[in-house]
Amino acid sequence: MVKHFTIAIDGPAGSGKSTVAKMVARELGFLYMDTGAMYRTVAYFCRKHQIDWTDEAKVVAALPKLQMNVQLLDGKQHIFLEGEDVTDLVRTPEIGKGASSVGTFLPVRECMVRLQQSLAADVSVVMDGRDIGTKVLPDAPLKIYLDAGVEERARRRMGELAERGETADFAEICQQIRQRDEQDMHRTHSPLVQAEDAVFLDSTSMTAEEVAQRIIALAKERME
Ligand code: DC
Repeated sequence: MVKHFTIAIDGPAGSGKSTVAKMVARELGFLYMDTGAMYRTVAYFCRKHQIDWTDEAKVVAALPKLQMNVQLLDGKQHIFLEGEDVTDLVRTPEIGKGASSVGTFLPVRECMVRLQQSLAADVSVVMDGRDIGTKVLPDAPLKIYLDAGVEERARRRMGELAERGETADFAEICQQIRQRDEQDMHRTHSPLVQAEDAVFLDSTSMTAEEVAQRIIALAKERME
């Protein structure tokens, strides 16, 4: 059995990365790290301090004041901003949009990548995001690129909103997903691309459980 093993899962918004990554981590006894939550926390920090998250100079100037702390409590990743647990507060579509914006700025990315690499240095992790296989864990023995069609991702998003008692317009959600893909895939620094050695999985007509089992099987093969 390999002592230290890392699994990098990248893919666009709504492809099911976090659901699947959590299942894989639970079954293999690895830690799950959600890097999107860290970019979301930067966006939340901007909103809290009235910093325009589309203004690179202002965001970068404020970065040294970012007091972000990532902790694992009962196996779940919690993020604290200035001492406040913001884990659930950052999970809104608006903060997601802000995260995508701050994620286009190189100094923000460098700061996040350093933090993520230090968190994963000595532990076996399943990490999800957009640049994990290409930048954060380029030597990960297992890299997955998880995709799904836009309409299926929009249906999943509608389902999540419905669970929270919120309603939304399907066409509008599709449009938001396309915009997010555009920003994440075409930014200058670390755009979302499939790493050359990543395994491509299309989850459009697979359940999360099926995707997770496929990843677990691949991990077990490579850990031998
Ligand atoms: O996975 P998510 O929806 O929580 O991510 C929110 C945004 O954060 C995403 O649209 C782009 C940015 N992000 C990034 O640039 N790099 C990552 N590793 C993770 C997220």
